[in-house]
Amino acid sequence: MDAAGFLGTGARLAADVNLVVQLLMGFALLLGMILARRRLYRAHAVCQGSVVLLNLVMIAAIMLPPFARDIAPGLPQRLGQSYYFFPTLHAVLGSVTQLLGLYILIRAGTNWLPKALCFENYKLWMRTALTLWWIVIFLGLATYYVWL
Ligand code: HEM
Repeated sequence: MDAAGFLGTGARLAADVNLVVQLLMGFALLLGMILARRRLYRAHAVCQGSVVLLNLVMIAAIMLPPFARDIAPGLPQRLGQSYYFFPTLHAVLGSVTQLLGLYILIRAGTNWLPKALCFENYKLWMRTALTLWWIVIFLGLATYYVWL
């Protein structure tokens, strides 16, 4: 049996911890955007890079296990139920967004990629990732709610 959460909603502890950490990380990304606007590129890189890497831990430790155990076996038959629909949409878009974040991190922070895989329009790629990231957060909030 999972330990009870601290937000008083009846969710499990891991879900409450994830909720708070995800919101803090989402706001950290917005703060990181402001740092870039102020041309503080080093601080911007550390901020966004930390969030993208920390989220790998959150996915592996908190989000992937219940998805694999409770949702994946019911797919695609039960997709019509909100209990399955929201986490599935969230997990698909969340995976794409996490991979996009890692790709941008590798492109901007290393010279590991061949030239053909290097984009130049940083603003477009980073704005797209930030927008997707917040859509995924809202889908995560929807999942939290339908799972109560
Ligand atoms: C950018 C990537 C992601 C972000 C920002 C994100 C964000 C969130 C947020 C804010 C919640 C609500 C808190 C909670 O209920 O725990 C959540 C829950 C959840 N997420 Fe994600 N997520 C991401 C990627 C993923 C991926 C890749 C998967 C699955 C492979 C996934 C599966 C889940 C599941 C199953 C829950 C419900 C967990 C529970 O309530 O016990 N998420 N996520």
